[in-house]
Amino acid sequence: MAEASTPLNPLPETTRIGRTPEPCAMVIFGASGDLAERKIIPALYYLSRQRILPAGFSVIGCGRTQFTDEQFRNKMQQAVTEFLHISADERAAFPEQLGQGLFYLSGNFGAPAAYEQLKSLLDRLDRERATSGNRLFYLATPPSFFPVIVNQLGAAGLARPEDPKRNWTRIVIEKPFGRDLSSARGLNRTVTSVFNEEQVYRIDHYLGKETVQNLLVFRFANGVFEPIWNRRYIDHVQITVAEDLGVEERGSYYEEAGLLRDMIQNHVLQLLSLVAMEPPATFQAAAVRDEKAKVLRSIRPIPFERVNEFAVRGQYADGVVRGQKVPAYRSEPKVAPNSTTETFAALKFYIDDWRWADVPFYLRSGKRMAKRASEISIQFRRVPHLLFRGTPCDRIEPNLLTVHIQPDEGMSLRFSAKLPGPVMQIRPVTMNFRYGESFGVSPPTAYETLLLDCMLGDATLFNREDAVELSWELVDPILERWRQDGEEGLAFYESGGWGPGEADAFIAADGRAWEQPDIAH
Ligand code: BG6
Repeated sequence: MAEASTPLNPLPETTRIGRTPEPCAMVIFGASGDLAERKIIPALYYLSRQRILPAGFSVIGCGRTQFTDEQFRNKMQQAVTEFLHISADERAAFPEQLGQGLFYLSGNFGAPAAYEQLKSLLDRLDRERATSGNRLFYLATPPSFFPVIVNQLGAAGLARPEDPKRNWTRIVIEKPFGRDLSSARGLNRTVTSVFNEEQVYRIDHYLGKETVQNLLVFRFANGVFEPIWNRRYIDHVQITVAEDLGVEERGSYYEEAGLLRDMIQNHVLQLLSLVAMEPPATFQAAAVRDEKAKVLRSIRPIPFERVNEFAVRGQYADGVVRGQKVPAYRSEPKVAPNSTTETFAALKFYIDDWRWADVPFYLRSGKRMAKRASEISIQFRRVPHLLFRGTPCDRIEPNLLTVHIQPDEGMSLRFSAKLPGPVMQIRPVTMNFRYGESFGVSPPTAYETLLLDCMLGDATLFNREDAVELSWELVDPILERWRQDGEEGLAFYESGGWGPGEADAFIAADGRAWEQPDIAH
């Protein structure tokens, strides 16, 4: 895999126009960790190959592991080769492209001395590489370090730009942003006591996915969909985010998190708010984020005592995924043998506003499912009356619009057509749009888009303080109910399927069925 020669996709022309950020230095806390290797550095390399990064762009990796600059550069070069699947030629080009701009500082995140060192290195880079006093701090550490680093940055005088008219300082905070409402509020308080909200970029990488952004374009740059995007025409919405992977090496994190915190509170609720939001006044961060927050505010809370009517949870048992036998969650490394952590959840929410009253939004996500597939299905209402004799309405599939978030990014629309022949027979057919086919490239990964956006100071695709708290408010009663119920109500499902039968019964009770990604298009 390391020597695979998959060429890097060129970014489409439009992506490049007017999108070069000002010179800056980026500081990655937790640079010796997984996220830096798998996502951040490969994304930066990609941007630098596309000549989108500013001249002199520099990265300071900070971590507890000891590395020299040279060792760090080598490690990141290997990471890029592995996670971006670049050719040997491109590997050789790494030092020129990005490598010489990489520096490393080892130290204790809680020690003021580490920040003094950081400050002098940043000053040096301003002088030697002309990074112009613009700083982007990226917290890619375990979440317990978030408040520590934020406070230390404040104490070291690094949280504010030297000259606010000429330079900027921003901070990117990874998920999980809190583990419940009260800890998220606490973290927000700490962060906003040191930084201004405009400096804070709370990342949810789903918002950087091309298909997710395209939802806004699809809805608001086309005349035909928005007029029917409401309760009069839409029967219900389903959002499925399925993974075939299990928890891998992340057992201890996952035991603390569970699926609701890991996927629903952030990624899935963000998808829901983009589907359901009103058109914003402009495509500016504040306007878009206002509309998204309004959706979250309008979601009817699920009361603690009714959680079991609106939510189903499951945990994977052993099974077969892509032809391989896989173990049960309880047998994964660093997972308790009697764990009650959920690895699957299905929920139903209602949005109490004029557009969506009484339209259910079914959300479903799980690990160790049949395949990796994230999709949004907009199920339109059935025709009210059917003209064709001998073909009852309930035998006609209603129109279905599917947004294929990943993989195989695109959209499809199902509609009815006459089967050729002398007898009137009606069958569903599908019209497809695929990114690869239409644009000749597959979309860049979310991190490239999001990193570029924070260098440019565009917070549209990042979470604001209120949105984070509103989504915790929605999941808090569910978390609490499940915690109290322990194993009672936890449904076990075979790995490699579509989750527990209870989730099928849950939606079937409303006279509906899940759209399975493999048969939807
Ligand atoms: C992360 C979760 O936020 O998203 C992981 O912590 C999950 O558990 C991942 O696997 C899924 O991201 P993607 O982009 O592969 O769908």
